[in-house]
Amino acid sequence: MYEIAIYGLGVMGSSLAKNLLNKGFSVALFSKNEEEGRRFVYEALNENWKVFSEEKTLLSSLTSPRIIFLMITAGEPVDIVIKNLSPYLKKGDIIIDGGNSYFKDTSRRTNYLKELGIFYLGIGVSGGEKGALTGPSMMVGGSLEGWEASRYILQKIAAHLQGESCCNYVGPEGAGHYVKMVHNGIEYAILQLIADTYAVMKRGLGLDHEIITKIFSDWKSSQLNSYLIDITASVLSKRDSDGAPLVDKILDVARQKGTGSWTLEEAVAREVYVPTICESVFARYFSANRQLRIEGNQMLTTTVAPMQLEDYNTQLKDTLLAGIICSYAQGIELIQKASIDYGWNIDLVSTVSLWRDGCIIRSQLLQDIVEALMERKQNILLTKKLSYITALEPSWRETITQVQNDALAVPTLISTLSYYDCFHTDKMSVNIVQALRDCFGAHTYERIDKEGYFHTNWE
Ligand code: 6PG
Repeated sequence: MYEIAIYGLGVMGSSLAKNLLNKGFSVALFSKNEEEGRRFVYEALNENWKVFSEEKTLLSSLTSPRIIFLMITAGEPVDIVIKNLSPYLKKGDIIIDGGNSYFKDTSRRTNYLKELGIFYLGIGVSGGEKGALTGPSMMVGGSLEGWEASRYILQKIAAHLQGESCCNYVGPEGAGHYVKMVHNGIEYAILQLIADTYAVMKRGLGLDHEIITKIFSDWKSSQLNSYLIDITASVLSKRDSDGAPLVDKILDVARQKGTGSWTLEEAVAREVYVPTICESVFARYFSANRQLRIEGNQMLTTTVAPMQLEDYNTQLKDTLLAGIICSYAQGIELIQKASIDYGWNIDLVSTVSLWRDGCIIRSQLLQDIVEALMERKQNILLTKKLSYITALEPSWRETITQVQNDALAVPTLISTLSYYDCFHTDKMSVNIVQALRDCFGAHTYERIDKEGYFHTNWE
C-alpha cells in the first residue's frame, strides 16, 4: 500500500515523486503512457513505489486518507482526469491539482467535488523541475479538511527556511492558484526588468558583455540577491560552441503560457494598478511582431542623446531594486484586493512568506517585504519598512531621464517610475477628465466643496 499517488509522470510529476521518495514516503505513480512509466527511474527502495496505468488499481493501492496528486497539463485535462477517477473515488478522498490551473476552474472543481464528499486542493507549485525535486514553494488553496489531512506530507516535501516550511494553506476555493498566478505575474515583471536593465547596459551604455556579466554577478551579493539575479549571471556566462555569448544568438521573441495575462485580466477586474506586470506581459506579445519592429526601425527615426551615467553600477542597481520592490507591491496589492472581493481571508504575511524560498521569485528582499506587510497598509510602498525606496529615487530618476533621452525601449523601467510618481500625487489631473465627460456626455462630476453629483452647461 502507498501513502500518496502522483498522477502524471512528466518532468514535474517525476521530480515531485522522487522528492516524496527521498523523504521516505511510499508513492503510487500513474501514467497512461507506458513509455513514460518505463522512463521513471528511481534507484533505491523499489518496494516504495510502483507505476500503475489503471485508475481502479491505482486507487485501491492507497492507504487512507487516499491522496491523489495530479501533475498534469492545466485546463481540460484536469476535468477529464477527475471524470476518469470518479467511479473509484470515495468520500474523504483528497485530490490535489499541482498545475498552473486557472483559479476559477479550481473554485468550480472544489465546490463540485465538495458536494460528493471529496476534498479538492488547488496548489500553486513553484520552483521548476529542480524545486519539485529538492523542495518547492507550495501555495495551497481549496478544502481545509483536505489540507489538514495531507499537510504532514506536503509541508515535509516543500522548501524550508529557518525551520519553517514554504508550504501553507492560503485560502478556500481557487485562492492557492490565484496566489500562484500573481506570483507568475511578478515573475514576468522581474524578468522584464532584468531584461530592460541589460538593454540599458548593452545598448544605452555600450558596455562589453564581460562587464555586464560581472555586474550581474556582483549584484548576487547585494540587496538584489535573489534566484533570478543568480541565474541571470549564469545565463550571461554561457557561451555557444563558437565562443560567442549564447544569449546573443537567441531570437528576440518571448513566449508565455498564460499566467501573466490572467494576472493582468484580474488586475483590470479588481481595479488594481499593475503597470510593471502589464508592460512585461505586453513586451512578450509585442516581441512576437518582429516584422513590425523591423519596419519601424527603418521608418521611425529619433534624435537621441547618448546615455551618460556617472556611477552606472550603483544607479542601475538602485533602479532595478526600486523596480522589483514595485513589482512585488503591485502583485501583493492585487492579492489583497482579490481576498476581499472573493471573501478568501488570505493572510498576506504568511502567504508572502511562502515565497522566501523554493520559488522562482525568492529573494533577500522578501524578508523586508514580509516585515512591511506587518504594518498592514493598503500598499507596501507606504510602509516605514520600505521607506528606503525614497533614497533610491535620485539614481532611479536620473537613469530614466537618460534612457528616455536615448530613446531606449525599456517599458518596465519607465512605467515603474510612473507608478511610483502616482503614489505621491495627492491631486491627480482627472478633474479635467470629469469636466470633459460632463461637457460632451452630461456624465456629471463631484465637487471638492459640496456633496452630490453636478452637471454644467459648459459650452
Ligand atoms: C514556477 C514558474 C513556472 C513556469 C511558468 C512559466 O513558479 O515554477 O512560474 O510555473 O516557469 O509557468 O510561465 P511562462 O511560460 O508563461 O513564462
